[in-house]
Amino acid sequence: MIKFTVISTKGGVGKTTLTANLGALFADLGLRVLMIDADVQPSLSKFYPLKDPKPAAGLTEVLVRGELAAGCISSTAYPNLDIVVSDDPEGSLPHWLLNRIDRGFRLRVALNSPAVIGAYDCVLIDTQGAVGPLQDAAALAADILVSPITPEILSAREFRDGTMELLERLEPSSALGATLGPMKAVIYRQDRTNDARMIAAGVREDFIKLKGRVTVLDTVVPHAKAYKEAATLRTPVHRHERKRQAVTPSAYTVMHSLAWELIPSLQGTLVEPLSEREEAA
Ligand SMILES: Nc1ncnc2c1ncn2[C@@H]1O[C@H](COP(=O)(O)OP(=O)(O)OP(=O)(O)O)[C@@H](O)[C@H]1O
Ligand SMILES: [Mg+2]
Repeated sequence: MIKFTVISTKGGVGKTTLTANLGALFADLGLRVLMIDADVQPSLSKFYPLKDPKPAAGLTEVLVRGELAAGCISSTAYPNLDIVVSDDPEGSLPHWLLNRIDRGFRLRVALNSPAVIGAYDCVLIDTQGAVGPLQDAAALAADILVSPITPEILSAREFRDGTMELLERLEPSSALGATLGPMKAVIYRQDRTNDARMIAAGVREDFIKLKGRVTVLDTVVPHAKAYKEAATLRTPVHRHERKRQAVTPSAYTVMHSLAWELIPSLQGTLVEPLSEREEAA
């Protein structure tokens, strides 16, 4: 089982969209996927239709019990794709967590529960775009951190400084027996201007200097309307945009190349086109 946490120190960069689309693609590639919505604003929980639209339990029970029981998991409308929903509309969970001595490790420990181990091949955790105990717990639960970065000069600087702070703050946890996974940055929502390309190149150079703590993935996710359209339709973007008559590659191509970089054993495997009957369903 491989665990990813999608994280950034900035809001609105595309974390939820990326988590949902990667989750659905891994699921369509045959992995058993569990997504966890660790943002008190439940955007990931609403991204895809759920089989039971009113789940009895979710993230609150996972953290309070320190165990991820089967009752906390909801099935989405898509095969192989399950989710632990965020169910804390008052936002009291981060405060509750803050008062626990084991706050950094509660989610990590919960992921070792029998309902997860052996039942899933991949866990994907979405986080809120702000520093806090929930973000820390989600970061420490992952094998690999995935961080979308939009190539605007301010956001690139903020990414570098904010990310270094985050990595430094969580690093001492290794003394407690938990190590922070490596971070893979994804250049995300790149438009086709020279400026964006130059900044993306600068981001890559910056991170080479940071001695391998962060690697920048080769795949670049472009700014494209397909991602928003797919979200509106509550469908995975690789199903929504298979082909594209333009310079930028289709979402189908982009998401596959990203998935292969994140799980290299998937390299070369493709989601088969749906039969017409399935597509109509
Ligand atoms: N590749 C893309 N191209 C264009 N727009 C995109 C792309 N990916 C996501 N978006 C849009 O960008 C907006 C922010 O995305 P999203 O909600 O995923 O960000 P987030 O990091 O989860 O935000 P928050 O920090 O509030 O949780 C949404 O309106 C989404 O539809
Ligand atoms: Mg989000």
